[in-house]
Amino acid sequence: MLKRLSSNTINTTIKRSSPKPHHLTPKQPLKMSTRSSTATGKLALVSSLTTHAETHLLKSNPSLKTALSASLSAGLPPITISPLQGQYLALQCKLMGAKTVLEIGTLGGYSTLWFASTGAHVTSIEINPKHRDVAMQNIASAGKDVESRVEVILGAALDVMPRLREEGRKFDFVFLDADWDEQFEYFAEAVKLTRKGGAIYVDNVVRELFEGGDAEGRETLVSRVGGMKGMGVSATMISTVSGWKKDPGEMVDGFLLAVVE
Ligand code: DHB
Ligand code: MG
Repeated sequence: MLKRLSSNTINTTIKRSSPKPHHLTPKQPLKMSTRSSTATGKLALVSSLTTHAETHLLKSNPSLKTALSASLSAGLPPITISPLQGQYLALQCKLMGAKTVLEIGTLGGYSTLWFASTGAHVTSIEINPKHRDVAMQNIASAGKDVESRVEVILGAALDVMPRLREEGRKFDFVFLDADWDEQFEYFAEAVKLTRKGGAIYVDNVVRELFEGGDAEGRETLVSRVGGMKGMGVSATMISTVSGWKKDPGEMVDGFLLAVVE
C-alpha cells in the first residue's frame, strides 16, 4: 500500500514537472482499457478473478470443503451456490440479525452450512431422499453445535410450506433454490412464512430468464413478483458473474431479493 502511494506521488510529480507530449498521454490507458473491454475478454478473466476473491476474502472452513467434496463423491449434481455467494448469504443474514432461515432445496447441505455458520437455526426442505441423506451426513460432520441448529425435512416444498404455515412458523430469511419452474409458487408460499421486515432470496433467476424462453412473451418470476408491488413486497433483481461455473454459458446468473413489509 505504501509503495503504491509513493509511486503515485512520484508519477504525479513527474507529470507536473515534465508533462508528456499531449498526443502520447491518452494512448496507453486507452489501448489497455480497449483490450479488457470486450465481453469475451472479460469472461475469460472471470475464473481467475473469482479465485482471487475467494483466496483473499474467505476463511478456510473444513466442514464446507468436506461437504462439497462429499457431495460430488456421492454423485450429487455440481450445482451448489458458490463460496463467495455463500459468504454473501451469510453476511446478508448477519446484517438482518436473522435467527431463523428457511431453505428450499437442501441438495448436499452446502448452503445449509453457510446459513448455519451465522449461528441461525436453519430449516431446509429437500425432495430427494439421497440428497437429504448426503446433507444429513455433511451436517453431522460439521459438529454437534451446527447439527443441533439444522433440521432437514424430506418432502415437496409445496406440501411442506403450507404445513409450516399451519404450525405458525415464521422465518427471518427464506432462500429459494429448487425447481426453476416453480420459483413463483415457492415465492408466494415464502411470503406467508416470512416475518415483517424479513427477506426472500431466489437463486438462479437470471439464468431462468435466459434459458426459460422469451421473457417478454411469458410470465416470469420477475413479472409475477412485480405484480405484488404495493402489496407489501419490494424486490430487486441483481445480475452476477461468477467463475464458480466453468461453462461460460453458466457464469452469468443472478438473484431476486425481496423484503416483506
Ligand atoms: C442448476 C441449479 C441451481 O440451483 C444452480 O444454482 C445452478 C444450476 C441446474 O439445475 O442446472
Ligand atoms: Mg441454485
